[in-house]
Amino acid sequence: MLEGKKILLGISGSIAAYKIAALTRLFIKAGAEVKVILTESAKAFITPLTLSTLSKNPVYSSFTKGDEGEWVNHVELGIWADFFVIAPLSASTLSKMAQGNSDNLLLATYLSARCPVIVAPAMDLDMFAHPATQKNLDIISAYGNKIIPPNNGELASGLIGAGRMAEPEEIFDFVLAQTQIKLPLQGIEVLITAGPTYEAIDPVRFIGNHSSGKMGFALAEVFSNLGARVTLIAGPSHLKLANNLVQRINVISASEMFNAVMQHHSKAKILIMAAAVADYTPALVSSQKIKKSSDDMKIDLVQTKDILKEIGKLKLPHQILVGFALETDNEEANALKKLKEKNLDFIVLNSLKNEKTGFGYDTNQIQILEKNGAITHFDLKLKQQVAVDIADKIIELINA
Ligand code: CTP
Repeated sequence: MLEGKKILLGISGSIAAYKIAALTRLFIKAGAEVKVILTESAKAFITPLTLSTLSKNPVYSSFTKGDEGEWVNHVELGIWADFFVIAPLSASTLSKMAQGNSDNLLLATYLSARCPVIVAPAMDLDMFAHPATQKNLDIISAYGNKIIPPNNGELASGLIGAGRMAEPEEIFDFVLAQTQIKLPLQGIEVLITAGPTYEAIDPVRFIGNHSSGKMGFALAEVFSNLGARVTLIAGPSHLKLANNLVQRINVISASEMFNAVMQHHSKAKILIMAAAVADYTPALVSSQKIKKSSDDMKIDLVQTKDILKEIGKLKLPHQILVGFALETDNEEANALKKLKEKNLDFIVLNSLKNEKTGFGYDTNQIQILEKNGAITHFDLKLKQQVAVDIADKIIELINA
């Protein structure tokens, strides 16, 4: 049932921790590979030896192991896992997850995990009902974590109410159901660029543009929700991602963006270059602030590398390459020229002639021009919906 699936179990301090022995057995019996992380306080309720015996793997609880203090790589654990199940989830661990606190191995792994995270809260009824706990659950749910609600029943305090961790069988069924969901882009690597680039003139000034990054960020969220593993290379932008599964790499200049794309492009199947990359950069960057001296001043500019064009040259047969074109005149002809020159599968054209489209707006009106000559016109839509249209076109190409 779960053959080949890698499940990372995170156990925080709650009396329900003893039930995780049974849950570990259920996962192992179903064919999953299991690794366990315990918080210090969880050790009072279940021993590492019990869990290492049942999971057939070492159990992790601190950032180092052995006499030599060898580092336990929480990033690798997070990347290893197909699913990270945190059960029981104590009120304290929940609040730290909501805040981004990483003061133990479980939390550091949570912050670096790129897989779906499923949590099973366990706490006393008043703790569970407290507005702070409910708010923290809303926060982690908005980050994309899945919550298995606690049951009603008798609690360790003797009180009766909601707060009892879901039973191991219920947690098992929930995780199993998640593994059955097949999203259209499950596990597919996607590389997206977004936002502007800033080209330094001196330590305080730069040449930039009005791109907000909204379109590229919307694409990253939509592709991640479709199951893809998304790497977003973003120029300077105040935007935040709601989805913590997207790997965001921040860059500033066109050359930094070029280097980041070069590092990541070969493993991607889908590449969407939505960034408004500067075409020119100052030939020399002054190390001191340039002082005002004469009435006019000139800055020598040199061309940046065209990232999309370079990727087009290196494009592998299985890759799908998408570019954007922002045009003010001869829109279709210019976009078609870019489509050919940059070896794209399709180009997304947005014309600045349309109202409420382009930089800063939440909406966009696009056309998709394909290399086979097909042109599709779309209505004015929110950028999230435009991102869905682009994803649909890519799914159509993959399934063709
Ligand atoms: N692009 C890029 N690297 C650059 C310039 C552009 O990757 N140095 C990409 C953009 O991300 C976009 C596409 O190329 O996907 C087209 O960008 P655009 O600015 O419209 O076109 P340019 O090729 O720069 O041509 P021009 O500015 O002359 O219209």
